[in-house]
Amino acid sequence: PRLRGRGSQLSQQGGGLLGNRGPGETQLEVDRRRLVRRIHKLEAELRTIAGHRATQRKARKRSKVPTVAVVGYTNAGKSTLLNRLTDAGVLVEDRLFATLDATTRRLELPGGRNVLLTDTVGFVQKLPHQLVEAFKSTLEVVAEADLLLHVVDASAFDPDAQIGAVRSVLVEIGAGDVPELLVWNKADRTPEAARRAGLSTGSVAVSALTGDGIDDLLAVLGDRLAGSTATVDLLVPFERGDVLAQVHREGEVVEERATEGGMAVRARLDETAVGHLTPYLVSP
Ligand code: GTP
Repeated sequence: PRLRGRGSQLSQQGGGLLGNRGPGETQLEVDRRRLVRRIHKLEAELRTIAGHRATQRKARKRSKVPTVAVVGYTNAGKSTLLNRLTDAGVLVEDRLFATLDATTRRLELPGGRNVLLTDTVGFVQKLPHQLVEAFKSTLEVVAEADLLLHVVDASAFDPDAQIGAVRSVLVEIGAGDVPELLVWNKADRTPEAARRAGLSTGSVAVSALTGDGIDDLLAVLGDRLAGSTATVDLLVPFERGDVLAQVHREGEVVEERATEGGMAVRARLDETAVGHLTPYLVSP
């Protein structure tokens, strides 16, 4: 409609004297053609990005490092929190994760455990469908995350309405079942953060701005993620390089050293992986 408005004010290119249309295209047609081309180009770019992201996600899945997506209503303080968290933990770039996109960072929790933290777009009342398409690859990260850090602005006029809005978007994008950790942010601004966090176990109050409560958050985050894995000791004979590779593939190796009996490996494994490696377990 905006194009048409513009077009009607412009005369036809080389407008003829005879019929109502000249030999040239109207400005409207020219503009429209240009825009259609631009839309196609952008759609192609989006498909490429989605392809890259899918490859990256597969690599992450293989690495077994848990992913945590930071979600929340727009202006809740997600970016501030992400920056704060990656300051508090050890943020390092290494080759293994060199393929991370700009919005995902690796964080080392106090216990030495690694997680991948992904920032997302701010959720609002109702995501228009074109937007869902545009942010599809970001949103897929949310649906596949191991845990959601749901950031709430405790000083907002109606935090519960914002929580509700975020949750309905989560359901809409297929992330309704992902476990969630509520983070009551902006505690420096309102005592409401601490009060609300006190009401339910497993939620925390923080100030992303001052850093208050971040240690708590990291500890709770570690606890929540630890639920699904166990740290075990394994002894792998030297000639079983394949088993060693399997440990690296299926779990996260914490420590590895050569002993007389073979490689002593301490690793974090989930139940399935423990099942696969039972013959090599030293301690349960
Ligand atoms: P979107 O990108 O719109 O989704 O926003 P966001 O959720 O990433 O929020 P962002 O981190 O940009 O923070 C929004 C505003 O809140 C900024 O002005 C921050 O400085 C402010 N803010 C974030 N955390 C805190 C906090 O703990 N206390 C106070 N007082 N302000 C905060």
